Amino acid sequence: MLSRRLFARCLSSRRVFSTLNPVTDSDVTHFTRILSPSSVLSTLSPVSTPHDELDIYNTDWMGKYRGKSTTVLKPKTTEEVSEIVKWCHDKRIPIVPQGGNTGLVGGSVPLKDEVILSLANMSNVRSFDPVSGILVADAGCILQSLTDYVAPYDHIMPLDLGAKGSCQIGGNVSTNAGGLRLLRYGSLHGSVLGLEVVLPNGTILDQLTSLRKDNTGYDLKQLFIGAEGTLGVITGVSILTAPAPQASNNVILALPTFDNVVPLFKTVKRQLSEILSAFEFIDRTAYNLAVKHGQGRALSDEDVEGAECFILVETSGGRREHDEEKLADLLEHLLEADKPLINTGVLAQNPAQFSSLWALREGVTEAVSKEGKAYKYDISVPAATFKQVVDTTRDHLRSKGLLNEDAVKHVLGYGHVGDGNLHLNIVAKAYTPEIQAALEPFVYEIVASHRGSVSAEHGIGAMKTHALPYSKTEVSIALMRKIKELFDPRGIMNPGKVLE
Ligand code: FAD
Ligand code: MLT
Ligand code: ZN
Repeated sequence: MLSRRLFARCLSSRRVFSTLNPVTDSDVTHFTRILSPSSVLSTLSPVSTPHDELDIYNTDWMGKYRGKSTTVLKPKTTEEVSEIVKWCHDKRIPIVPQGGNTGLVGGSVPLKDEVILSLANMSNVRSFDPVSGILVADAGCILQSLTDYVAPYDHIMPLDLGAKGSCQIGGNVSTNAGGLRLLRYGSLHGSVLGLEVVLPNGTILDQLTSLRKDNTGYDLKQLFIGAEGTLGVITGVSILTAPAPQASNNVILALPTFDNVVPLFKTVKRQLSEILSAFEFIDRTAYNLAVKHGQGRALSDEDVEGAECFILVETSGGRREHDEEKLADLLEHLLEADKPLINTGVLAQNPAQFSSLWALREGVTEAVSKEGKAYKYDISVPAATFKQVVDTTRDHLRSKGLLNEDAVKHVLGYGHVGDGNLHLNIVAKAYTPEIQAALEPFVYEIVASHRGSVSAEHGIGAMKTHALPYSKTEVSIALMRKIKELFDPRGIMNPGKVLE
C-alpha cells in the first residue's frame, strides 16, 4: 500500500506534468532540421536510435533514478540551444538539462519522458586572461579539461571534486558544487563572475561579464547558481581561476577518537594558517571501504591500529621550504603533546604519494557504490556532531532490524569538516521501501534539530523536494515558487526537481 507521503508525492508529480506534452515524431523531425544528424538521438521516427543507446542518459550515476526519455539533443551552439528551448516552450515539452550526469540527487535524469538536453557538444574555451585569471568557457567543458587548460598558465580552477573527469562546469554551477577546495577558494557564488543562460522561452540572457566588480542592481546570475536547471540552461560560464600554489603537501592523520576532530581542526588552522587548503574527514568504515575497493594508498596496519577516524590535511602555499617546515612543526607538536590528538601521521613524500592520499579520500564515493546501493545524505550539521549523527542513524536502523547483510551493510561518514558538511552514507544490499521509510524523515529531523541543511552541496534534485521544509521556511519556499513562476510559467524546465 502506498504511504500517504508517497501518494502525495505521486499526486504532485502528476500535477507538475499535467500541462506538459511528450515528444512526438513531428518534434523529432523539427529537431533534425535545426541540428546536425549526430546531435539528435531519438527512438522516435525519423531517427530511430536503439533504446539501449539512450540508457546512459536516462540513468543517473548511482543507478538509483531512471527516466524514460525518447529523445536526447546535443546542440553545439548557444543559438541551437535557444532554438530547441523555443520550440519546447511553444509545444510545452519538458526539458532536463544534462551535464556530465554525475549528480547524486536524481536531478540530471528525467522523471518521465522529458527531452534530455545534453551540453556535451559545447566544450570550447572561449577566452582566458592569464593576468586576471578569468576564464570564459562553454558550459559543457569538463572540469578536468579546464584544469588542464589553465595549468600551463600557472592557474588552477577554484573547485575540485572526485567527479572532475566527467562533470561539466555548467553542471558544477547549476548544482553550486562545493568539493575539496571550498575551504580555500569559497563557493561558486563568489568565483563565478558571469553566465550566459538560455531562458525557458528561448531568450538568450547574456550576463557573461568578466568584471570583478559590478554593482549594477540585482545580481541575476546568482539565481542560476544552484538552480539545478529549473530556471534555464546555462550555456557559458565566466569564472575566476586562482594562481597555482607553488607548493602543495598533504598528510593523513590517524585519530584515536572522533572527539579529537574539532580540537585538531582548531590546532591545524592556528598553526598552518594561510597555507591550510583542505581538512577532510573519513571515518573508519569509510576508510576500510576505500581500501577494500582499491582506492588510493592504504596505510600500514601499524598506522591504522586503534584509529577511529582519519583527517586528510592539505597545504598549498608559495614556498616549499616554508610550508614543509610549518607542516613538520605541526606534526611534531601533535605527536609530542602530553595528550596527543593523533596516533600517527603519514606525510606524502612525492607527487605520486600526494595523489594517492587524495585518491583515498576522493575514492570513498566510488568504493561505496561498488559495495552496494547507497542512500546518500549530504548534510550541513556542526562538525562536532558528525559521529553522533552517524551512530544515531546506525542505532536507529539496528532497532528496526535493518542492520544486517541482507538489508543495510554499513553506515558511514566522511566529508568536509571545514565546511561543516557531513556525507552520511547508508550502504544497503538493495534500495527498498523499508530502508527508505526508516531513514526519512528520521535523518531530516536530526538535521532540523541542528538547524542544519538537508543539502550542503549536492542539491535537491528529485531526491529531496519533500525535504525542503526541514531547511527552508514557508516564506522562503513561497518566494522560490514565485521566482520559478516568473522565469518558467509553463513549467518546462526540469519539472519535479527542487520544487515539488
Ligand atoms: P549533472 O549531474 O549532469 O546535472 C546536475 C544538475 O544540474 C541537474 O539538475 C541538471 O539538470 C543541471 N544541469 C547540468 N548542466 C546544466 C546546464 N548547463 N544548465 C542548467 N542546468 C544544468 N558534488 C559536490 O558538490 N562536491 C563534491 O565533492 C562532489 N564529489 C563527487 C564525487 C563523485 C565521484 C561523484 C559521482 C559526484 C560528486 N559530486 C560532488 C556530485 C556531482 O559531481 C556534482 O553535483 C557536479 O557539480 C554535477 O555536475 P554534472 O556536470 O555531472 O551535472
Ligand atoms: C565527496 O565529498 O566525496 C562528494 O561530495 C561525493 C559524495 O558525497 O560521495
Ligand atoms: Zn562532498
